[in-house]
Amino acid sequence: MTSPSFITPPGTTASEGSPAVYLRRSFALDGQPVRATLRITSLGVHEPWLNGTRVGDEVLAPGWTSYAHRLAVSEHDVSDLVHEGENVLGAVVGEGWAAGRLGWESRRNLWTDRLALWLELVVEHTDGTTETIVSDGQFRASTGGTRESSIYDGEVYDARLEPTGWDDAGFDDSGWTAVEPLDWPEGSLVRTGAEPIRRVETLAPVSISVRDDGRVVVDFGQLITGWVRLTVDGDEGTTVTLRHAETLIDREFDVRTLRTARATDRYTLAGGGSQTWEPRFTFHGFRYLELTGYPGEVTPEDVQAVVVHSDMVRTGGFESSHELVNRLHDNVVWGMRGNFVGVPTDCPQRDERLGWTGDLNAFTPTAAFLYDVRGVLGSWLADLAAEQEEAGDVPWIVPNVVATPSPPTALWSDAAVSIPWALYQQYGDVDILTRAYPSMTTFVRRVEALLDETGLWSSGFQYGDWLDPDAPADNAAAGKTDRYLVATAYFAKVAREMAQTSGVLGHDEDATAFAALAERVRRAFNDEYVTANGRVASESATAYALAIVFDLVDDRQRQHAGDRLAAVVARSGYTISTGFAGTPLVTDALSSTGHLDEAYLLLEQTDCPSFLYPVTQGATTVWERWDAIRPDGSLNDSGMTSLNHYALGAVADWLHRVVGGLASLEPGYRRLLVAPQPGGSLTRARVWNDTVRGRAEVAWQITDGSMRLDVVVPSGATAEVRLPLHPEGAVVEVGDGSHTWTYDLPAADSTVVDMDTPIAVLAADPGLWSRLDAVFQDKLPGVPIVPSGPEAHSISLSLLLGFIPGVPDGLQEALESALTAHRAGSPTPTTAGAAR
Ligand code: BGC
Repeated sequence: MTSPSFITPPGTTASEGSPAVYLRRSFALDGQPVRATLRITSLGVHEPWLNGTRVGDEVLAPGWTSYAHRLAVSEHDVSDLVHEGENVLGAVVGEGWAAGRLGWESRRNLWTDRLALWLELVVEHTDGTTETIVSDGQFRASTGGTRESSIYDGEVYDARLEPTGWDDAGFDDSGWTAVEPLDWPEGSLVRTGAEPIRRVETLAPVSISVRDDGRVVVDFGQLITGWVRLTVDGDEGTTVTLRHAETLIDREFDVRTLRTARATDRYTLAGGGSQTWEPRFTFHGFRYLELTGYPGEVTPEDVQAVVVHSDMVRTGGFESSHELVNRLHDNVVWGMRGNFVGVPTDCPQRDERLGWTGDLNAFTPTAAFLYDVRGVLGSWLADLAAEQEEAGDVPWIVPNVVATPSPPTALWSDAAVSIPWALYQQYGDVDILTRAYPSMTTFVRRVEALLDETGLWSSGFQYGDWLDPDAPADNAAAGKTDRYLVATAYFAKVAREMAQTSGVLGHDEDATAFAALAERVRRAFNDEYVTANGRVASESATAYALAIVFDLVDDRQRQHAGDRLAAVVARSGYTISTGFAGTPLVTDALSSTGHLDEAYLLLEQTDCPSFLYPVTQGATTVWERWDAIRPDGSLNDSGMTSLNHYALGAVADWLHRVVGGLASLEPGYRRLLVAPQPGGSLTRARVWNDTVRGRAEVAWQITDGSMRLDVVVPSGATAEVRLPLHPEGAVVEVGDGSHTWTYDLPAADSTVVDMDTPIAVLAADPGLWSRLDAVFQDKLPGVPIVPSGPEAHSISLSLLLGFIPGVPDGLQEALESALTAHRAGSPTPTTAGAAR
């Protein structure tokens, strides 16, 4: 038996715009086999065919890995497709990630100049003997309908050029060429354990509109990653062009968020009746489709959006009484679906779609809750480790495709430590840490050597609080929080995770050394950036959030730091003032320092930029920046304006743990913390997770002054249950099974607030103050009302109005109605905008 080679047509190069490669061979079998198994991979993306039938349901195989180190082999049971007599095995190979254009530096052919196929088909006969067909010189090659197959730019298919019957017996391939072997390291071939990419769902259009110039614009109602399945009937030679966009701006198709990615498919008809076609070697991030050249009227059946991603098992969910928060959570889930296409990516639409480590680092706790990511991220971490070993540093992008070097930077490079640690928390699987250990320790020691003599990480490139909304449009790394403060804070946390990892694995000397390192960096942070009372340098929400959540403040400083944070978020009117580093933490930092009201005000804010602002604008995914589309409907065209970036969706982790109230206290939910913290206008929430031990669930509901809490604890686990809003603050221990509690809530605070209440008292209730503040801003724009000055203790709203010359019309009435609404306990109003 010969062993398989990578085979490729001689003299071809996978240059821009070159056609896909078709490969085939026929072979004869004596008798009907009992079993047949196909193992296949390629340099380029492939689609396998056997006896006229498409093999399996994987798309974009072999997915994307760091090919030189790890190239995924797919395995298919093809017992039902082989038969006695002549059989034909073949594949089409498009350029994919291995040969195509990747990254904003527009590099291509990063792994190969030539498209190549590798396969072996093992056939088992009834007598127990086996025979193996392999990729070798017996294959023949040609081209067919697929003329171009670029991931960024789209697919071009000419049905007139498709050789009919090429994948079945009886086809004359004498005009096809021979193939030759291509050198490729056999040792790179692996079974990755990642779920394949599949077509997961199909969406019908929600509207189809014909424009004056004949273009047809289709809205699928949801921003997805995938492609369009087109059904069309027309004359031979007619070309239909499909362009894809994330958004309409001023009702017009807008492709600026794609940067240089053309995201355009072209289908040329062969005539002869209705045909259904879909691309197979590209994908697009889109909600809108623009069709030109379509013959006849487009009906909903003619255009279907195919949702494509790694086919992971869904494991978690959340819903509440707040419709906009629910849509935010749905958007987080869609953001994840759109960005787990083989590799966990920053975005799925523009000329990036890359495995940016920082984005995933922020999002991993959320991702691991929502889906079983052990396969996809286990494979990705293996790539990270392989590339780190080769390069010395953790690349910012895995698989790495850019020439720009990747010196260690906080939140990005430390993904090497924090992602395995987060996965271990979710799944409790020690092997995750064992496999990652060399990569984790290499990273930590590398940064240890970069610390200054005081123990601070105070030099070198840093992304800082990337995409702080206050950073200049042309420099997303120049946020208002000191970048070395961010770096040192993250490293203190990461060194602690490292020490804990060493402890779990029984590497005691490492554990002691890393714990000392963690403490040294924590001390250095505290000495440099925190005042004795707990004020944190930069005075930004991110600086406080990092100091509090990463436990970098001492006990005596903690409350003051929390109070300062509350003041900082109030100062920004409960809109978002944090970037990638701080946004995942700010609500946690508030809720853990007694500022739950402020955390909910941040959550429920709808002004721009805020968590819910995009939802009010009709967003169906999480945007790269909260102000990607401005209130006036214009696109914030800064170049960092994807409408499908999961990173900032990391806030869902707080929804799960604090609003819903389900957290893992010991790795793998061996012990649960059930501690919902109801607040804001929410009257109900439910969160569930299919843990490695089984279903865990928490649901709370407030009706008519009483609380009902339902908890499901998975088998073999225990839970500490802190009964929410319980009059005595009861905490109970329970074992597995279903548990329910109902109890009356303490009567609502009866303090009567009216026009004669001192302003300082009104301002002490953040929900009430934000209502009154909104009235002032509306009626007296630009006139600051300072609620913390000494006079606020004696001045009431009625007195204040007496001091204002020419009180604006309606100011008094609006203040009174805000007070009335507050007394009636109605939710803080939100503005729901029209769907875009
Ligand atoms: C990506 C990010 C990434 C960042 C870092 C961007 O272009 O889309 O999300 O983390 O670059 O530079």
